[in-house]
Amino acid sequence: MSTSSSYQTRQFNLSGLRGISDETLEMHFKLYEGYVKETNNLTERIAKFIQDGTVDQEEMPAYSELTRRLGFEYNGMVLHEYYFDNMQSGGGNGDADVNSRFRRAAESSFGAYEIWKADFVGIGKMRGVGWAICYENPANGRLSNHWITLHETGNVAGYNPVLVMDVWEHAFLLDYKPAERPKYIEAFFSNINWSMVESRLKLAGTKTAGA
Ligand SMILES: [Fe+2]
Repeated sequence: MSTSSSYQTRQFNLSGLRGISDETLEMHFKLYEGYVKETNNLTERIAKFIQDGTVDQEEMPAYSELTRRLGFEYNGMVLHEYYFDNMQSGGGNGDADVNSRFRRAAESSFGAYEIWKADFVGIGKMRGVGWAICYENPANGRLSNHWITLHETGNVAGYNPVLVMDVWEHAFLLDYKPAERPKYIEAFFSNINWSMVESRLKLAGTKTAGA
């Protein structure tokens, strides 16, 4: 059963990326579809537990497990949408434009764009399964980079994800060896859709940002 509040799998046109094959993307879109389905599935199953207005003692173990899994699946769905959205078909222009709001925000938050990038790339190279995410603090426009374990551990509540990079091995294993993650990160940078990244900024890079 699907309800009117069910999430739909979004479609992304990302053909012809640099260094990330269409084959990888097809496989990745399928994985993303799995997160959407499982988010809907868990949401419906949890709803059944609570529809009588209470969670009984005997329901608690199953209810708890499903609810814990919801955080994993939900973030898996949402982060993949951010990730696919911040790349562009045919490839991008590499680094953020010198006069862009993102560049100004990175400079005011890290001292220099190159320092911001060294941090973001460094996080991407960390051993483990997860994501590198650049967030904007919505209160003052300050940028900070974070490591997310799996999909759900390390996200900063209320912060605005601006640049999202999947570094699970499935994101690059058809194109690179497991030890070649740096090459994948380089490829990711050459495909960034900076106008999408800019559109996510709320305060950062503006004169009012008090970073
Ligand atoms: Fe992924």
